[in-house]
Amino acid sequence: MAALLRRYGVGARWYDVLSGERWVYRAGRRAGVALLDPRPGEVIVDLGCGTGLNFPVLSEAVGPTGLIVGIDRSPDMLEMARRRVERAGWGGRVRILQADATALRPSDVAALAGASPDALLATYSLSVIDGREEAWRRASASLRPGGRACIVDMQPPRGTWRVLSPLARLACSAGGADITAHPWQMLERDAEPGSLRRSERKGGHIVAVAGRLA
Ligand SMILES: C[S@@+](CC[C@H](N)C(=O)[O-])C[C@H]1O[C@@H](n2cnc3c(N)ncnc32)[C@H](O)[C@@H]1O
Repeated sequence: MAALLRRYGVGARWYDVLSGERWVYRAGRRAGVALLDPRPGEVIVDLGCGTGLNFPVLSEAVGPTGLIVGIDRSPDMLEMARRRVERAGWGGRVRILQADATALRPSDVAALAGASPDALLATYSLSVIDGREEAWRRASASLRPGGRACIVDMQPPRGTWRVLSPLARLACSAGGADITAHPWQMLERDAEPGSLRRSERKGGHIVAVAGRLA
């Protein structure tokens, strides 16, 4: 099962259930979207969007005049995302791009969106992506000047939550995530310092950092 999830292929149809979404990871996604603060009419890139678990909250925030561009490498994850969009009737609000984030071309994102996006959200994806620096560089370069970004990802839990650490490590390794990668540090490095905001959930296991890119 671990291998199935890690490939984000045939495991895609069980991802929403087996990924711990309900009990653990939904809290981080909500914290991240709150920090990113998407507004009506904005264009938001969801990098490594997977099955589209961010789409409900993003779609509500950007409204009928806004747009979500979901990018992922896995056709199986994107098939689940497309089904989610179809079921919810968000056809006009979501566009999907199948692409390897490490080879992403900002011009392709702008062409699909019809404009350079206002903001970027990456939930639990940059810890999985091999070559995350390159993926981050390309995705952040696709934003309009002064665009905002939010990275939500994982690290080992602290304090009393440390008892969950072996479980957290197992879950992250099953998903192929490097729990020591701290990908939000790329945003902390590249954002305007005064714009940075941070939030933690589940004993520090989930970290959300948002900011305006310099
Ligand atoms: C743990 S899932 C997170 C999915 C979603 N963001 C969420 O919050 O549920 C990681 C996702 O990153 C995608 N991914 C991994 N490497 C990638 C790459 N090089 N380019 C684009 N997507 C990639 C996987 O296909 C998978 O959908």
